[in-house]
Amino acid sequence: MMKRRAWLRALVALPLLAPIGAAALDEVIGRALFRRAWVPAPSSTHANDGLGPLFNARSCAACHHDLDRTPVQTNADGAVSSDHLVLRFSDAAGNPDPVYGRQMQSAAVAGVRAEGRVMKTEQGYKLDGLAYGDLGPTIRIGALQAPSLRGLGELETVPATAIAKIAADNAGRSDGVRGRVNWVTDAQGARQVGRFGWKASQPTLMAQVETAFLLDLGLSSKGHPLPQGDCTARQTECLAAPMGDRDGGPEISPDIVSRIVAYLAEVGARSAVGGNSAGLASFEAIGCAACHRPSLPGTHGPVQAFTDLLLHDLGSALDGGATEPGVASTEWRTAPLWGLSRTLANGAGLMHDGRARTVEDAIDLHGGEAAFAKTRFKSLPEAERRRLIAFLTSL
Ligand code: HEC
Ligand code: HEC
Repeated sequence: MMKRRAWLRALVALPLLAPIGAAALDEVIGRALFRRAWVPAPSSTHANDGLGPLFNARSCAACHHDLDRTPVQTNADGAVSSDHLVLRFSDAAGNPDPVYGRQMQSAAVAGVRAEGRVMKTEQGYKLDGLAYGDLGPTIRIGALQAPSLRGLGELETVPATAIAKIAADNAGRSDGVRGRVNWVTDAQGARQVGRFGWKASQPTLMAQVETAFLLDLGLSSKGHPLPQGDCTARQTECLAAPMGDRDGGPEISPDIVSRIVAYLAEVGARSAVGGNSAGLASFEAIGCAACHRPSLPGTHGPVQAFTDLLLHDLGSALDGGATEPGVASTEWRTAPLWGLSRTLANGAGLMHDGRARTVEDAIDLHGGEAAFAKTRFKSLPEAERRRLIAFLTSL
């Protein structure tokens, strides 16, 4: 029998709940799932288990704090102590390491050894304490930081045809800017435009979320049905560990994935382009906007993300080491610049591995297809350069 107070609470809650539609409710639940800490199987809270056996963090929010890009923290001994950065493994063609798989997992369930830890160095990041022997002789390491997750719903509404057309039109340019679509095959076997991740390798938010469950949390989904996550055939203790059992279904149901997608799709980016039109004019005049497109068409109006969602070769200074099949290690998706002010205010680094501390550092690292724009930036009069930087840091 319900106690009187519980009745009262139910009555008070009713009028508040009534106006919430199904879509909004999905979003609220999605937000809670994004923050949920998953636990190893078997557990009494069956719905929450299946974490690992190898994993990097227990929740999405552990790496994507407040959905923002936040600084990577290190201990006094140089070991990375925050979850905001991952190390990827691949050979030159993007094939994973035969023992460690695609990503280094720095944590594991009881009875399974974590793969190692990440150390900060002068040049970037390196591996320490590899638990399963050496990496394959041709395997390279690459560091990726967790990006901001604001505005992704809008990026998803840009028509694939519009992205492909920008790439086709670039063929006639004389400034060295090319840019190509990262065509990927989705879980259903269809050819799609990749748009999420530093390498634009995920075609949809759903595919990106399922990949995060696979690589970062070790949880299976419809798109990645095997429960062992990134454990390889050579990691036998990992394969023998208890996995989440869902009567043959994946550890993460399609419902959970779609609610997290609904939540992420609703989080807008800060709407860009403030008063500094002189700054924007120089940005366009010197060729930054050839890749960082101020506006793309979207289903709900212009998407002012300052990206073309294409892959560009930015040259050897930005060789990321590890890569993905079909993408060179020097190729990156044009980073969207909306929300840059937030990233800078948080003190997070710029570029895929966060090595640039300021916008000037970031520009300095541009080479390859962006060499011409960089040269033009450097030859701008001081005052104009300052206006351009002020414009970018206001986004
Ligand atoms: C261990 C840290 C970590 C965890 C945990 C994590 N992520 Fe990420 N996330 C990253 C990194 C690093 C990237 C960049 C990956 C890449 O480019 O391949 C990323 C990229 C993304 C992107 C693409 C953003 C863009 O700009 O294209 C989305 C969406 C995302 N994560 C959602 C999630 C969700 C949902 C979860 C939980 C299921 C999650 N992440 C868990 C580190 C993490
Ligand atoms: C040929 C295409 C291209 C051109 C031209 C270009 N960029 Fe970029 N830009 C990129 C790519 C690709 C990245 C992501 C690189 C990475 O993550 O390592 C990037 C990253 C950035 C970043 C870091 C963003 C972040 O979130 O970390 C800034 C700032 C930036 N560009 C500013 C500029 C400015 C200013 C210009 C003009 C002087 C310019 N870019 C010209 C392709 C381009």
